[in-house]
Amino acid sequence: MSADEDKYPAESGRRRFVKGVVGGSGLAAVGMTSAVGINSATTSPGEGGGSTEAMAIENTAGPAPRGMPQIPIEIDDEGYLKGVWPEVQEVEQGGRTIEVAETEMGGVPYSSEWFQYCGVESYEGIVPTYESENYLRSDAGPAYDWQSEELEGGDRLNVSMFENYESWGNGIGEDGLGKPATGRWRSEDAENTIPIQVIRSPIIEEIANGNTDADQSIVDWLSASTSQGFIAWLNKCTHFCCVPGYKQSAGAASFGGEDGVYCACHQSVYDPFSIVQTLFVARPRPE
Ligand code: FES
Repeated sequence: MSADEDKYPAESGRRRFVKGVVGGSGLAAVGMTSAVGINSATTSPGEGGGSTEAMAIENTAGPAPRGMPQIPIEIDDEGYLKGVWPEVQEVEQGGRTIEVAETEMGGVPYSSEWFQYCGVESYEGIVPTYESENYLRSDAGPAYDWQSEELEGGDRLNVSMFENYESWGNGIGEDGLGKPATGRWRSEDAENTIPIQVIRSPIIEEIANGNTDADQSIVDWLSASTSQGFIAWLNKCTHFCCVPGYKQSAGAASFGGEDGVYCACHQSVYDPFSIVQTLFVARPRPE
């Protein structure tokens, strides 16, 4: 498993995202060895947060400091897609008992803290006990013609909508890599919408089935966190929190992003077919 450590950066704008977490200049030193110190420093402003290892779609170009965190997928008896929410547990942190949602999955501790960045840590859907059926639902203005023709905002995504996933294309980049949809998760009756993107891809299917030279740890993780080739992630750019898109912009080709997930704000590119472990400082949830 490759550790894709944060390239937390020099740009001054980032500071405002982390001020409440470790304050000022401490972030440059973030690394495995300082994890304990970070955890104790992050307990006071809210709940949870701190040094977190998340499985993510890899950031391959541009200023984003790391990949976007994956949302594990499960499919119900009728073929509807759900994002797995980890089990709620009580843990001691900084001398207090707090709730976290964390589950072991494919050899990885999957935690709701993976999503605690870019303000998402304050969304209702990220509260460990928020009640949701966890279905992945279409958004109101999807970027793909197939989706706007077939679906209304709020409709649940179903396997049957992705049958042509091995050939789908929209004129951007290469056809046949996978069929995408955009949507939301854990956002019904909530003030804030958690944006997600999902792709059903033969590449993901092959990796999860152990038919590639991917590390066994990645195979184990993907066979647990994807299903029938479906992979999903929290669609918030880890740079400055824009919402990127897979094959949504012809202009992505100028930045090598025509087959990736491209963020038009500052040209970051993510590879949804390359899953890596990332290390970052999750923000605490406000109390
Ligand atoms: S590249 Fe800057 S917000 Fe995405």
